[in-house]
Amino acid sequence: MRLGVNIDHIATIREARKISYPDPVDGALIVESAGADGITVHLRQDRRHIKERDVELLKRIVSTHLNVELSLNEEILGLILKIHPDACCLVPERVEEITTEGGLDIISNLGKVKTTAKRLKDEGIFTTIFIEPDENIIKRAPDCGVDAVEINTGKYSEVELIRKDFIKGSHLNSELERIQKAAFLVRSLGLEVHAGHGLNYKNVSDIVKIPEIEELNIGHSIIGRAIFVGLENAVKEMLALISSCNL
Ligand code: PXP
Repeated sequence: MRLGVNIDHIATIREARKISYPDPVDGALIVESAGADGITVHLRQDRRHIKERDVELLKRIVSTHLNVELSLNEEILGLILKIHPDACCLVPERVEEITTEGGLDIISNLGKVKTTAKRLKDEGIFTTIFIEPDENIIKRAPDCGVDAVEINTGKYSEVELIRKDFIKGSHLNSELERIQKAAFLVRSLGLEVHAGHGLNYKNVSDIVKIPEIEELNIGHSIIGRAIFVGLENAVKEMLALISSCNL
């Protein structure tokens, strides 16, 4: 199972002061030397963390795999097509949200998703859609013309956070089951399976055990951990956890 590290929140700290450091580009080099399989960033319309300049430099220095998350916004798509990362993940975006809130509604936006995916794929960019672990939505994924589905683990992660105090695991099991079933379905439709959002050092183990999942994208927990143990150690700890659960 591959680990893509989302480094947006290095840029969040930089933007808290609107100065030049810490630089996510420096962070990418450390993440890669710690053994991660790829670097992920989200170029948002409001540029709250990652900027064009970051993506341009990352394209030049990343030696593993650069994955850019983007909405269906035309301006952002134009920029990303010019930069030409290895991979793109289409996500929904709302200016008021704190982080990506749910999966992309590929049913209502099918036309736009299809044309956006085609424009990326015509340029040779590996294309993923970020969607909910919902059978009715997943069944439409092949219509989008993408290579992979990233299953939103956000709900599972939220439930896990409150599990011990309130719900003694039952909701957690059903959220985990939804992701297991979704992963199986995505794979049976012939698409590659990725997963991410809200994953951390405590809740990742059960997700790692899902055999269909080939890639995880994890950001906030790793950058948060890096404050205490350093970025290299934070990435290595996550990699060790993934390989110990993935035997
Ligand atoms: N995958 C997608 C599609 C995302 O939008 C994000 C957040 O940018 C992540 C994964 C990483 O989520 P987190 O920062 O909670 O690990």
